[in-house]
Amino acid sequence: MAARTFTALIVEKRESDSFSCTVGTRSIEDLPAGDLLIKVHYSSLNYKDALSATGQFGITKKYPHTPGIDVAGEVVECRDGSYKPGDKVIVTSYDLGMDTPGGFGQYVSVPSCWAVPLPDGLTLRESMVLGTAGLTAGLCVRKLVRNGVQPEDGEILVTGATGGVGSIAVAILAKTGYRVVAATGKASETTYLHSIGAAEVISREAVTAGGEQPLMAERWAGVVDVVGGDMLGAAIKATRYDGTVTCCGLVGSLEMPVGVLPFILRGVSLMGVDSVQCTMEPRRAVWEKLAHEWKLDNLDTIAQECTLHDLEKEIHAILQGHVRGRVVVNLLES
Ligand SMILES: NC(=O)c1ccc[n+]([C@@H]2O[C@H](COP(=O)([O-])OP(=O)(O)OC[C@H]3O[C@@H](n4cnc5c(N)ncnc54)[C@H](OP(=O)(O)O)[C@@H]3O)[C@@H](O)[C@H]2O)c1
Repeated sequence: MAARTFTALIVEKRESDSFSCTVGTRSIEDLPAGDLLIKVHYSSLNYKDALSATGQFGITKKYPHTPGIDVAGEVVECRDGSYKPGDKVIVTSYDLGMDTPGGFGQYVSVPSCWAVPLPDGLTLRESMVLGTAGLTAGLCVRKLVRNGVQPEDGEILVTGATGGVGSIAVAILAKTGYRVVAATGKASETTYLHSIGAAEVISREAVTAGGEQPLMAERWAGVVDVVGGDMLGAAIKATRYDGTVTCCGLVGSLEMPVGVLPFILRGVSLMGVDSVQCTMEPRRAVWEKLAHEWKLDNLDTIAQECTLHDLEKEIHAILQGHVRGRVVVNLLES
């Protein structure tokens, strides 16, 4: 039987409209009535968690709140019989960590249809080194491959390359034979990017130089973009004939300054990627690949670990673009 109280990060709205983070006690009775009560072993920090934890508009509506869009843990109770106690599961996306208390607490209660069984080939901790960032990177690579981009077609550009989605995209693409060009604002992380598989490391400015033109010299066979704005616009304008650009993030901007020429003169495809509402078929397919064909042997290079007690500092770091790779949150030791 589960303990009735547990430790969680609690984000509260102050009267001054600012937000505070404290590590405190919550009760299982306060969790929503889900089919599945899960004891969380590990979670991870994503950009969206930092937005929720600092009260950014449009993410979380009700406070006090426990963020955490990623969970890996063990089933404690299952009301609809789809899992049994002790089963290991991953939950990411949907409303987890948005207005449903999330993985920065030692228990979550969710609909069972949000869970994916932990695939053979991944530990709970490894699944959280990947987390939503890994699922999203995997969905981007899947779209490139399904749209016909092959390693022999040429270079793949990954933007925001030292971040969570970027690092895992670099590593999967390199492992599967692509020549990856990693674009970063952190020149000091060049060695890290080479160590996870980047063939070449370039600056953000090298991507955007000449981006005011309607078309740029053709270079990229494919692109994984997490930044949006000028970076995405320039990446599209420099994509080769019939190439594919995947777009999943907005750390730079919500806008996309590009005209129609790359699409109508070069047949470039722009493909959106959403991990939140994506259906179970691609979700399970990507987790299976992450556990086997795309299993990364450099997960320890990509990850750092913290407990709930060190998390606030990492939340501010990710908002400033200072985090390298992935931050795994250990709930067993929190
Ligand atoms: N669509 C989806 O389902 C989905 C899922 C997951 C994430 N996302 C989105 O994808 C984006 C990345 O997520 P993440 O978890 O990888 O975040 P992250 O770990 O914070 O990585 C983002 C990286 O982007 C670069 N960057 C930060 N600010 C920038 C700026 N102003 N201009 C240009 N580059 C900047 C930095 O890398 P460098 O220093 O190496 O350039 C940073 O490490 C976020 O917008 C997130 O909301 C979307």
